[in-house]
Amino acid sequence: DATDAELSERITAAKQTLGERVVVLGHFYQRDEVVQHADYVGDSFQLANAAKAHTDAEAIVFCGVHFMAETADLLSGPDQAVILPNLAAGCSMADMASIDEVEECWEQLEDLYGDLDTPGADGLVPVVPVTYMNSSAAIKGFVGRHGGIVCTSSNARTVLEWAFERGRRVLFFPDQHLGRNTAKAMGVPLERMPLWNPRRELGGATEDELHDARVILWHGFCSVHRRFSVAQIDQARAEHPGVRVIVHPECPADVVDAADEAGSTDYIRKAIAAATEPTVFAIGTEVNLVRRLAAEYPQHTIFCLDPVICPCSTMYRIHPGYLAWVLESLVAGEIVNRIQVPADVADPARVSLERMLAAKP
Ligand code: 13P
Ligand code: SF4
Repeated sequence: DATDAELSERITAAKQTLGERVVVLGHFYQRDEVVQHADYVGDSFQLANAAKAHTDAEAIVFCGVHFMAETADLLSGPDQAVILPNLAAGCSMADMASIDEVEECWEQLEDLYGDLDTPGADGLVPVVPVTYMNSSAAIKGFVGRHGGIVCTSSNARTVLEWAFERGRRVLFFPDQHLGRNTAKAMGVPLERMPLWNPRRELGGATEDELHDARVILWHGFCSVHRRFSVAQIDQARAEHPGVRVIVHPECPADVVDAADEAGSTDYIRKAIAAATEPTVFAIGTEVNLVRRLAAEYPQHTIFCLDPVICPCSTMYRIHPGYLAWVLESLVAGEIVNRIQVPADVADPARVSLERMLAAKP
């Protein structure tokens, strides 16, 4: 087996040979051995913009998970190839909303509210679908066809405001926590956010609850972020008086409430970068990012709220060995592991993404 140093040399050599023909994008949750070779590192919103901006590169190698590579394919040029170094790098949250389930939910809501695509006398449609970026291209296509929009954790509030200008209610999927935390911060009461549960008729919520709903939440969650707890925050505060607790909005609402701040991966990075005094930070997000920030800012004490290691196992599937392989294949003139969204899905999915990119705070 090649050592980390050998793989690093091979990746560097292949990138040098390819030059401007390739751009490597890396999500903040990628391991250091991958991040060190990325031309751009960012949160999912920044990487979507980076994919859109790099029109000159023949290939975009996306070190992240499947839905992010699909998004890069939707936003990049038609002749650019988007490559996911390991096709098994998915996202368990994205898998929690299948297109069949979402279409079935839509039909059930249509039985309840009438035609969902036609505005009423108030100019508003009954329901606007909003999907978190962490969803398949098919779901983004569904949303695009039904007047809806995509959001990321860094623009969820702006996007919900956009949706409430157009609809009386929002159907938010797949992450119930991001939906709940964002709507709660906007002043929507919890009782007006029923949880959709497809296993029970009318989604588990009563008909009255659904009528009064402002946000209907899908039942998805992130298995990494739901591990964070209020008990961990209490312990951090007991052990480190004055600690600043920052968590990702994929954490449950009680954890977000108990924290000092909540924000996207880029928000967390910027908050630490902006701290002028030595500070203790307890962070509720994926451990690879937390460890990298701890190494980058030694003047602060930075630790992950979860004492048991808390990596995203699918992000971790992008091993540097796969990165070396896809780059060396490009050098040899072969495109491997290309992610290509079929045109019938791509067109409406692009509409929902472009709405997000145009929605200004
Ligand atoms: P960001 O949008 O903050 O990059 O997060 C993506 C993600 O998958 C978090 O779990
Ligand atoms: Fe998906 Fe959670 Fe991993 Fe983010 S951290 S990619 S939401 S499983």
